[in-house]
Amino acid sequence: MFFIVTGAYTLINYQEFLAQRTELMRASEIREILKITEGKKIISLAGGLPDPQVFPKSELAEVTREIIKEKGDRALQYSPTKGVADLRDALLNYMKKHGISVGSNDDIIITTGSQQALDIIGRVLINPQDVVVVELPTYLAALNAFRLYRPSLVGVPIDDDGMKTDVLEEKVRKLAGEGKKVKLIYTIPVAHNPAGVTLSIERKKHLLEIASEHDILVIEDDPYSHFVYEENVDVTPLKTLDSEGRVVYLSTLSKILAPGLRIGWIAGNKELVEAFERAKQSLDLHTSTLCQYVAAEAIKRGLVDRTVEKAKVVYREKRNVMLSSLDKYMVKGAWWSKPIGGLFLMLRLPSDKVDTKELLPEAVQSGVAYVPGAAFYADGSGRNTMRLNFSFPKPEEIEAGIRILSELIRKKLS
Ligand SMILES: Cc1ncc(COP(=O)(O)O)c(C=O)c1O
Repeated sequence: MFFIVTGAYTLINYQEFLAQRTELMRASEIREILKITEGKKIISLAGGLPDPQVFPKSELAEVTREIIKEKGDRALQYSPTKGVADLRDALLNYMKKHGISVGSNDDIIITTGSQQALDIIGRVLINPQDVVVVELPTYLAALNAFRLYRPSLVGVPIDDDGMKTDVLEEKVRKLAGEGKKVKLIYTIPVAHNPAGVTLSIERKKHLLEIASEHDILVIEDDPYSHFVYEENVDVTPLKTLDSEGRVVYLSTLSKILAPGLRIGWIAGNKELVEAFERAKQSLDLHTSTLCQYVAAEAIKRGLVDRTVEKAKVVYREKRNVMLSSLDKYMVKGAWWSKPIGGLFLMLRLPSDKVDTKELLPEAVQSGVAYVPGAAFYADGSGRNTMRLNFSFPKPEEIEAGIRILSELIRKKLS
């Protein structure tokens, strides 16, 4: 009889076997915090989870059943790396409705969440030392994905109107003067994660002018523009304003349908999409065929639109509770963003006296978790900031969480 032994009883030093590049694979700080809070009675303002009450469970069950019954031979089979045509067509129409036109479904590749799109972009476009501009702060998991390909990251600060494009222009010029060409600008223009700010239309145009003048590709990461909570806000995607094919657009169904389906996509020039396809082939052959058929049907039947309408109501209320709780309890002099969409806002404390990473264990002890801001800053700054999620906790938890946090911060500052 054979036994397979796993676990603690080993003489093998596994660390010696790890390839050097694993040193660049950082565990996501968010996922580490989620591990600490799991199963404990803690108000978590840390993750980025959608509220499950928004998931269209029974409709998705119905769609899935029908697909397996009627198209099971195809839906349960291997499928093309680029994605099934039904879904690429559905996304082409969906984007068109939101003002984003790409030539044909050949300009779209389906990815396993937009997280995979970020990795593919790193793989295909970033050589060691290539200069990549990111917002300060930016999406932590994009930083982690890009870092594996050893770029030289350059941060550009943001304010309430998104990336400061005057600073961008200055930095791009200065680098050009030193003989360093910026290759990519990675940006989250609408309802930024983690900052919760939105790039103004003037700055969008300015950013594209700079990209054009210096021949830079723009990576537009857009999970949030499809469900903003305010009327009369300009959420025109950069891709819509792009007359040169300079913008590589990524989005996802994670926040407008369900993240468990793991459906994301990249829309860009066909030549680039073909290179992305080659990279994806060795990653996972293709994204789940079944999930792609379900997603295509969900878009076609208006299920995504209905989910978005529901999500808007739920998240608008929760955002409002977080904003009013901050108004009520937070210490004077603190700044926080006023997101028009998305799932997060960013809080900056009035003094550098409090390092939010050092504060976290005490906050968890007091019953509330958040994500310390520094991990989102490519230059390691932002130690007095934190990201707060409002989509997952209940309204009463949001208020209690902000009250506890505010009391703790007030004590630290006094
Ligand atoms: C800016 C941004 N990009 C990418 C992702 C990854 O999303 P997914 O892999 O679920 O599509 C997220 C998720 O929160 C995000 O906020």
